[in-house]
Amino acid sequence: MQPKTAQLKIDDKEYSLPIITGTEGERAIDMRNLRKDTGHICYDQGYGNTGSCESTITYLDGDNGVLRHRGYPIEQLAMFSNYVETAYLVIYGELPNSKQRKAFGHLLREHSAIETQMQRIFDGFPKNAPAMGMLTSIVSSLAAYYPELATNNFEKDLEHFDLAAPMAISKIRTIVAMIYRYRHGLPFIHPRDLPFADNFLHLMFSDPYVAYVPVPEVTNALNLLLLLHADHEQNCSTSTVRMVASSGANLFTSISAGICALSGPLHGGANSAVMHMLQSIHDEGDDGTRFIAAAKSGSKSNRLMGFGHAVYRNYDPRARIIGTACDKLLTRLGKSDPLLDIAKNLEHAALNDEYFLSRKLYPNVDFYSGLIMRALGIPTDIFTVMFAIGRCPGWIANWKEVATNAKGRIYRPRQIYIGAVKRDYVPMDKRG
Ligand code: SDX
Repeated sequence: MQPKTAQLKIDDKEYSLPIITGTEGERAIDMRNLRKDTGHICYDQGYGNTGSCESTITYLDGDNGVLRHRGYPIEQLAMFSNYVETAYLVIYGELPNSKQRKAFGHLLREHSAIETQMQRIFDGFPKNAPAMGMLTSIVSSLAAYYPELATNNFEKDLEHFDLAAPMAISKIRTIVAMIYRYRHGLPFIHPRDLPFADNFLHLMFSDPYVAYVPVPEVTNALNLLLLLHADHEQNCSTSTVRMVASSGANLFTSISAGICALSGPLHGGANSAVMHMLQSIHDEGDDGTRFIAAAKSGSKSNRLMGFGHAVYRNYDPRARIIGTACDKLLTRLGKSDPLLDIAKNLEHAALNDEYFLSRKLYPNVDFYSGLIMRALGIPTDIFTVMFAIGRCPGWIANWKEVATNAKGRIYRPRQIYIGAVKRDYVPMDKRG
């Protein structure tokens, strides 16, 4: 029988701390009264050993490479579902019935356009503005354009949640395509009454007079890619969404904060960093051998991008699925990609190298995702904003958990102060 409490001894005093057990048997020591009871806080830089919330959305077992959304294994969702259905599941907790699925799809189509006035924001950016910089700014402006959906009052914002949620997903998809068109000097394309992934590809690659019509394999590959990014427990960007939401901030503003967090190279920026890494290996005529040797130096600038994970100490199940899908797509399109061959060399070398094995470094979702996007014709500068489309349902579901938590509190971590002790002001003429 598992103990219900943990015993803590500080000096000559003993404290009994409750143990919380999750649905999958995960156990946590409840520290919510630690400071009040003991005068101490706990210190956990990067929060790697700290649970910030209780959640019902995603279960992740990093040691065994398990990922489930609302109880459904990612492998089954990848096999039988699609991005929009999985988005509904992540947000609402259940797979939609046909009526719910139809209504959700209708809202996605109905709100896929960006109003003309809002389109003027794009003109404020230089043509070579980084895509993520544009996305964070434009998405946060949704709160300004739709203030009735973004009142920063949870009760009111939850009343409009069933409109704001699909609106956020649909408009972010369209904004990403518009960012691509703007950066590449192409005219914006108006959305059509198409399924989500088909509409994205239309918005990206149609021209004003000839519609781009993808083969089903391309649409399926994009659907799979977005589905595999839908949510991932309390990753950096999702925790950021919860942090911002905990102040009472509306959905659009909280999502734009998540996009800011995603832009870092250690998080969402890794997919494009992988492609730059593979391209430079290729350009140097290396088959990956020299690069692997450098990656073992441990310096952050030589890292094998797309490898390692803050939680997975096993193969990221998403990486395995994307790797297989990438192979199938290239075969179906009759394409080959030398960078895929290099990626496979790197994977094989790393999975047989003590340095990576001893540190439990395996491919993560970003290792192959860039290659499949490249096969879809999506340029590297748009890779990270693609991740944002995929992750939107997870951010929305986590925002809703914060907004509906009646016992919720503003996120306000403590710190260990290691700065100067008290000292008196020194007038200018007395300073060194
Ligand atoms: C995502 O959290 C999520 O869920 C994120 C995500 C999601 O869906 O939201 O899954 C998406 O962000 C995936 C991760 C994408 N990032 C990368 O691929 C960048 C490359 N990977 C690393 O920078 C690193 O692995 C992290 C940031 C992902 C994880 O870092 P940790 O857990 O803090 O690991 P660490 O930095 O403490 O490293 C542990 C050891 C170190 O060596 P030692 O000091 O023990 O000798 O492993 C080494 C590191 O030097 N190491 C690597 C490495 N990653 C870690 N060495 C070479 N190449 C790497 N990629």
